[in-house]
Amino acid sequence: MNIIQLIDKKKNNQILTKEEIEYIINGYVSGEIKDYQMSALLMAICFNGMNSDETAILTETMKNTGEVFDLSGINKITVDKHSTGGVGDKVTIILLPIMASLNIPMLKMSGRGLGFTGGTADKLESFEGFNMDYTLDEAIKMVNKYNICEMTQSNKMCLADKKIYELRGLTSTIDSIPLIASSIMSKKLAVGCDKILLDVTCGNGAFASNIEDARELAKQMVDIGNKNGKETIAVITNMDEPLGKSIGNSLEIIEAIEFLKGRCEEDVLEVIKTLGAYILKLAEVSDDIEKNKEIIEEQIFNGKAYQKFIQWIQVQGGNINQIEDISLLPKAKEILFVTTNENGYISKINSKAIGELVNKIGGGRNRKGEEIDHSVGIILNYKVGDYVENGATLAYIHVNDYGNKEELIKEVRSAFEITENKTEKMKMILDVIM
Ligand code: URA
Repeated sequence: MNIIQLIDKKKNNQILTKEEIEYIINGYVSGEIKDYQMSALLMAICFNGMNSDETAILTETMKNTGEVFDLSGINKITVDKHSTGGVGDKVTIILLPIMASLNIPMLKMSGRGLGFTGGTADKLESFEGFNMDYTLDEAIKMVNKYNICEMTQSNKMCLADKKIYELRGLTSTIDSIPLIASSIMSKKLAVGCDKILLDVTCGNGAFASNIEDARELAKQMVDIGNKNGKETIAVITNMDEPLGKSIGNSLEIIEAIEFLKGRCEEDVLEVIKTLGAYILKLAEVSDDIEKNKEIIEEQIFNGKAYQKFIQWIQVQGGNINQIEDISLLPKAKEILFVTTNENGYISKINSKAIGELVNKIGGGRNRKGEEIDHSVGIILNYKVGDYVENGATLAYIHVNDYGNKEELIKEVRSAFEITENKTEKMKMILDVIM
């Protein structure tokens, strides 16, 4: 086989066979196929796409380039929850203890953030001592005992995806639906849970900026999961404004604690109830989604999920005094007020801009391995659909020793759009694909 001919084939919009895809992926991992050749092929895929069989084969081949977990030591149905990424996304931190408190085993591998969406691992590391470095055996033991374990991404999994994802970041080939779908699903298949629940975010600040793309991405991932014998459901959620009110590592932890104590932001509650309801369906508790949502809600308001959260943080080595006294969590030196000088209804809060600003003040990283500041972030005081009066505080910026504060305040203010006409609260659940 010849890589130049295969690039040519994709350039001419032809279908690659299983043998050809395996040759490309294995050749790239071994170094026989060079970065410049892979880049050309990736660009051809960006323009011409892949059909569902090619995407499924690509996923399976990438999965096989690294470690694959055997979760047969967990003797209940396991469901992996995955989000395609959002701003202010603290869903995993809230949902895992809720599900665990309902006796659903939750083993989750989370990464550190890169770019403007934060990583769950970074958020949880706001707790002193929180440890996520577990072997598979240790993780399985923990899940069998407590129904919950959060571990860092194994660097032995999906070696092809690791190498290709980095190259995609450098060659403007991230935004291809089959490449995103196969990249995410190769890692989900390698983790080895029985079933998969996907939160496909849609809107400004998400991979899919419109509902058509979100549906296509969701369909492709559901198809890959099902073809590999893992029942998969995708819930498409709205990311046209940040989720909840806090964006930034320890600030999101505080919002998660408040939520589990029953002080829930409406949009987060809707997302949590829906995702939780579909996990209960996948775990074969019940197919009645409305009833499942009630079960989730009850578990929040009866305090059981909060108790599970405390236990979870404790067993993973975190300092639980920081839950009972949130002032012990990393705290920024200064809070800047972002005020408005107009009356009206909030029509938009630019998620991507807010995510990038949190990054800029130190809450995220632009390069792998970079240190982050857990204490900084932005708290929104209002959401889309709210009315504000001239002089109202739109947001609070938590910063440490930031240079041009006036400019920063201006930048946060310009993430808000305010109109005279009444606006509606955002609909959070846009579709469910199964
Ligand atoms: N996350 C991934 O792991 N891969 C992608 O391609 C996009 C998001």
